[in-house]
Formats: sequence, C-alpha cells, structure tokens
Amino acid sequence: MKKVTILDLKKMKAEGDKITMLTAYDYPTSRILDTSGIEILLVGDSVGSVMAGYQNTLPVTMEEIIYHCQAVARGRTRALLVADMPFMSYQVSIEEAKKNAGRMLKEGLAEAVKIEGGVNMEEVIEAICDIDIPVMAHIGLTPQSIHRMGGYKVQGQAEKERDKLLQDALAVERAGAFAVVLEVIPSYLAKEISSQLSIPTIGIGAGPDCDGQVLVINDLLGLSGEFRPKFVKRFAALEPLISEAVKRYVTEVKESKFPDAEHSF
Ligand code: KIV
Repeated sequence: MKKVTILDLKKMKAEGDKITMLTAYDYPTSRILDTSGIEILLVGDSVGSVMAGYQNTLPVTMEEIIYHCQAVARGRTRALLVADMPFMSYQVSIEEAKKNAGRMLKEGLAEAVKIEGGVNMEEVIEAICDIDIPVMAHIGLTPQSIHRMGGYKVQGQAEKERDKLLQDALAVERAGAFAVVLEVIPSYLAKEISSQLSIPTIGIGAGPDCDGQVLVINDLLGLSGEFRPKFVKRFAALEPLISEAVKRYVTEVKESKFPDAEHSF
C-alpha cells in the first residue's frame, strides 16, 4: 500500500475523495487502523482523558505525546502520523514552539504536528511550517481552551462567532497549514469553511460536508463508558465483550478449568 503524504490529502480534497482520520495511542491499535484503510493517525492530546483518566487535556506533556507517538509509529506503515502539540508547548514563544514541534518529528517519529488556534496562532503555524514541519490546524471547539469557553459547547452559533471562525480558517490556511480540524461547529458553517479553503477540512461534530472526518478511537469502539456526545457514533460496543471475556477468565481460574491440558506444557 502506498504511503499517505500531505500531498495526497490535497489531491483527495480536489477529487472529492473523503479523508479518514482516527486517534491512536498504542502499537496494536495503530497496526489495526493502518491496515484497515485509515489515512491519518492522530496521537491526540485526548490521550490524557482517554488513556490516563485526566479530567481534560491540559495536564498532557510533551513526554507523554512522544511516548505514545513512538508506539503508534512502530505500528503503522501507510498512514500519515500526526502528533498533537500539548498545552503550553507552543503558546509561550515561537522559539519554544519550533523546538517542541521538532521533538515530535525527531523523537516521536511523527510526520506532522497539530496545533489548536486560528488567527491567534497564525505566526506560530507559519514559523513551524517555515522550518518544514507540516502543521494541521484545529479550530472551533479547541479543548485546550476549555476554561475560556466555559465548557465543551458548540462553537460558531452567534453571527460574530461565525465570522471569527471563518477568519480563523483563512488565517491557518494563509499560515501554511496543510489541513484543519473543525470541531463541534454547525454543519452549514463547516460547509461554508470547506468551500472557501483549498486545504482539506477534517470534521468532528461538524457535519457531513467536511473533506474528511475524525473520531477518538475509544468512542468509535464503545470504550468510553457513559461519555457519548451527540457527534459520536459507536461502530462497535467493545466494553461488554471485554467484560464478558474477563468474567469467563475469572470463573475458569477460580474453578481450576484454566489452564487446562491444551494450555499447559
Ligand atoms: O486530541 C484529539 O483527539 C483531537 C481530535 C479530537 C481532533 O484533537
């Protein structure tokens, strides 16, 4: 299978070929997603809430993303690997942002980084692109801004907000981003932004008219407990399957049925 590059994504948008992206945080998941046809694997800072049980993404560190990125890199051969820049790894100065983006490629083996923000991050995105590190932007509901937004709410509903989001999208394209995630915004606005940009838009809770879609893998597989926002579709329900398997193991060990002759030397 041919390796996916940022050039393929631009071509896919031009040809109306939808782009698929999922988060991945470990080696076995990366291996399965890569051979199942996913074009982009994102080591999202959602790893903090999904895998470490943090309340939000703010505590996630460079070291955590790099560790998970290395594992995902070992599992994939085809998909483009994107690493999320964690909170405060790119906001303090352009120099720090460049250095940290470089670490994602050098140590994490990522092929691109993702940065939350629009107009406010234009210079940062431009500086990172200028040193040949591809940047995926992320606008709309940006989880690192949770405290400013006052919760995980639909963005871009008021007219002023709609205009700001359009300006954000144009700013990240101008800065050189190769794609932009649109998170939790009205479908008609995502459609409008997608038609105005030449770079692909990847939606999550942004309706069907984006150039691609992304979900958190644990949400798609039904491994997120009661967490079920409107935009998440569960394509499988793995929690009861895992629970059932573990209960059978517990029973068989307690009843001395496992290990049996077949599983012993
Ligand atoms: O961290 C993450 O998983 C993300 C996606 C939801 C886009 O940013």
